[in-house]
Amino acid sequence: MDLRARLTPAFEECFGTLPTFIVRAPGRVNLIGEHTDYNDGFVLPMAIDRAVWIALRRRRDRQVIVHSLDFDAFAAFSLDQLQSKGLGWIEYLRGIAWALQKAGYALTGWEGVMVGDVPIGAGLSSSAATELAAARAFIAVSELEWDAVKMAPLAQKAENEWVGVNCGIMDQMASAAARAGHALFLDCRSLTFEHIPLPAGLSVVVLDTATRRGLLDSAYNERRQQCESAARFFGVRALRDVDMRTFEARGGQLEPLTCRRARHVIRENEHVTRAVAALRGGDLETLGRLLVASHASLRDDFEVSSQALNIMVKIACQQPGCFGARMTGAGFGGCAVALVHAEKVQDFAICVAKKYAQQTDLTPNVYICQAVEGAGLLLSS
Ligand code: GLA
Repeated sequence: MDLRARLTPAFEECFGTLPTFIVRAPGRVNLIGEHTDYNDGFVLPMAIDRAVWIALRRRRDRQVIVHSLDFDAFAAFSLDQLQSKGLGWIEYLRGIAWALQKAGYALTGWEGVMVGDVPIGAGLSSSAATELAAARAFIAVSELEWDAVKMAPLAQKAENEWVGVNCGIMDQMASAAARAGHALFLDCRSLTFEHIPLPAGLSVVVLDTATRRGLLDSAYNERRQQCESAARFFGVRALRDVDMRTFEARGGQLEPLTCRRARHVIRENEHVTRAVAALRGGDLETLGRLLVASHASLRDDFEVSSQALNIMVKIACQQPGCFGARMTGAGFGGCAVALVHAEKVQDFAICVAKKYAQQTDLTPNVYICQAVEGAGLLLSS
């Protein structure tokens, strides 16, 4: 049964009536532009056909009561007493309430049922999907106006300051503002974006290595600090402001590790703008080569890949019909993304899964993804 079909009966069972609103916010996969968002750079994600859904109705008081079907649990909080209770799925909703209220939004209480199919911890932004679904729910029930570009930074603030994960803006913007059939070419400084059409003959395949790394947060924060120190060396606000010529002229004076980190970011920003040009021109061969170059840079200069990711990317690139592949998301495990000729994609999925399992003894997950619309309101009665 699809998720939406599960929501209404579950809501009726919990609350005895039909829901008034149904909202949905998707996960994302990043096609190219990795570890550039917190350097004020460029990214090219798309929203995927895996999402978090909430069915809800307004309450007269200031309580928020939510039943998570995935965790088979109820949680509740009052909008007048927001205190973090540590970890857990409800913190994403509580954090959104906190960020919206802090920004001056007058919120209403609600009760609802939540369900999702974005794999958790795989690097497909189940957190951003939960945050944006919660934001969409609050805005709908409180009769406020939805503005994706205002919501995404508030969701990021909830994740940074409430949940305590130091992410950039990419995931929230993709979940909030993506368009069906398009990738989102986003300038992470100005938050201006363009929707770039994805050609019909191109399939986007997410390849989950079935590996996760525990110390991801500390490695991520360390990379951020290295990038900030490189930006200070160049005397700019962020590495976005350094071009390849400047880097080549002065980068050699940086300490070698910081130099490599900076080189990745500067090069990766170029990869994104070239990838957008390739997509616009229908040049999928060039696009594929840019993905491969991005992977090499993440592996060798930024050092956020892993053996499992490298094996997955290598296998993917060897299959007929594959234009290119690379690790996607923060790295150290999680998923790779491959761009594949649509006619070859079924065989591709089967072969990659088989070869990866043979070489690693791990069972991967393969998702052939559609580019979907960002956070939305699907029922309002
Ligand atoms: C994680 C973060 C994003 C971004 C990527 C790396 O997914 O949540 O903001 O920094 O890593 O590109």
